[in-house]
Amino acid sequence: MKISNNMQKALNNQIALEANASNNYMAMASWCEVTGYEGGTSFFYAQSDEERTHMLKFIHYLNNLGISAVMPATKSPSSNFKSLESILKTALKNEQTVTTAIHKMVEISQKDKDHSTYAFLEWFVNEQVQEETKFETLIQKFELIGRDKIAINEIDKTLAVYATTFTADTTA
Ligand code: FEO
Repeated sequence: MKISNNMQKALNNQIALEANASNNYMAMASWCEVTGYEGGTSFFYAQSDEERTHMLKFIHYLNNLGISAVMPATKSPSSNFKSLESILKTALKNEQTVTTAIHKMVEISQKDKDHSTYAFLEWFVNEQVQEETKFETLIQKFELIGRDKIAINEIDKTLAVYATTFTADTTA
């Protein structure tokens, strides 16, 4: 089956975006680990793993079409973090960037009448709704619970609970 060059380029760009997301979350996890946020550590390492599974889905999709996926160069992630709240806000922004990229690919697939890629992307459209909601809910907790040490400790415990909800899914 053929997909357009434009679609191939966008799918390969998405591999890089997911790889960078995985690296960014790993840097956040590492910062949490050094700072002593145990929940944040588990949560962001799991989030990093999840982004890698997203990257693999795009790699498998292209390869299964007989188009060699391009392994991405990754940018060095920022490690200059200030607080758990600021990390979660950065994470939400990252997810919003990914959502925009997914929606652009959906538009390309519609324009191309590329029904296969359109169907493949549907999972990511739904995933991004969940991802954005997750980070919005976590950020909201700072308004609800507060920003003192006890409140932040409670939010870190919430992150530990969230960390247990990740499931490995590497299916294409
Ligand atoms: Fe792969 Fe969290 O977007």
